[in-house]
Amino acid sequence: MPPVDESDKVLPVDTNIFRHDLLVWYDKNRRILPWRAGRDKKPDPYHVWLSEIMLQQTIVVTVIPYFQKFVEKWATVQDLAAASQDDVLAAWAGLGYYARARNLHKCAGLIVTKYQGRFPEEQSVLKQLPGIGDYTSAAIASIAFDKPAIVIDGNVERVISRYFSLVTPLPISKPQIRKYATLLSEGRADRPGDCAQAMMDLGATVCTPQAPKCNLCPLEEKCLSRCKGIQTDLPYKIKKGKKPQKYCFIYWIKNNKGQVLLEKRKEKGLFGGMMALPCSGHFDEREKIEQDENFFMLDFSNSKPLIINHSFTHFDLEARGQFAAMDDDTEIDRARFLWVEEAALSNIGLPGLFKKFINALYHGTII
Ligand code: ADE
Repeated sequence: MPPVDESDKVLPVDTNIFRHDLLVWYDKNRRILPWRAGRDKKPDPYHVWLSEIMLQQTIVVTVIPYFQKFVEKWATVQDLAAASQDDVLAAWAGLGYYARARNLHKCAGLIVTKYQGRFPEEQSVLKQLPGIGDYTSAAIASIAFDKPAIVIDGNVERVISRYFSLVTPLPISKPQIRKYATLLSEGRADRPGDCAQAMMDLGATVCTPQAPKCNLCPLEEKCLSRCKGIQTDLPYKIKKGKKPQKYCFIYWIKNNKGQVLLEKRKEKGLFGGMMALPCSGHFDEREKIEQDENFFMLDFSNSKPLIINHSFTHFDLEARGQFAAMDDDTEIDRARFLWVEEAALSNIGLPGLFKKFINALYHGTII
């Protein structure tokens, strides 16, 4: 028998008890994260904002060292605003989705010039800032300023889907999940920021996608899917189609001084504004990759057989190395290309795809 959708029934929960149980659990089990304030301390809105931008599409363990590096380099939003965009992009290198870094820098500038260095507290105002959408504005308003905003990330979606046994698959169930999250926060006066983080922590550590640890969950007794024994199956998800596969060349071009050619990418598009190894465009078929017009004159016949696979949100990329020599006085667009000492490459913030390529070239390993 297909599972029955319980979503239109009255909330099977006393929201005060739900929040009380959740907060008691959180006080004992909260994760120690470098952007979180200590217990009974006020969070620093700069730390909350910075971490939430980094956490968009990136997992906590990956974000931690980047967050630490940023606050060491730029201790305040004023310091970050005063940095150059190139320095911010270089520090961001490897974290991906580079529009986030450009918007982060723009946003820091606005906080300083328009808001006297203080972050706005209201979600509606936060949402007008670059790089801050529905989720991030809610997270900042709630965590930094204890506003009762509705914070829903993937972890919260899972906790709510399971607790209320929502059998409509994601993403169709998103409005339903929002309705339940709103009902749960109604009349909420107490520690909205901690409630939001408690839901995230519960989802990340107990109500995990596989093998949830229900015996450790403060909400176990009233969890509808647990009562039915279907918690591990939820939330159902509509299967995403396979990502399109694309192909390109990555150029490893050296001059007679042993320097390597790099490219500063255009502001718009993939790796916008970043330093990178030069690349061709992306093509749908391996056999149809076209040589970049800047390198028509080069001889690639001695290229090593080096192929890297990398996954982006909207496509998978197979990048094939193209190796050639080029005189350092060859006429090239100097605003776009520059020669860099090979030994200095590791100090330049290159996107993950190129780090992977260079690692494979040096060590024959793909990381
Ligand atoms: N994921 C996104 N924001 C988070 C936060 N503040 N704490 C833990 N996980 C998160």
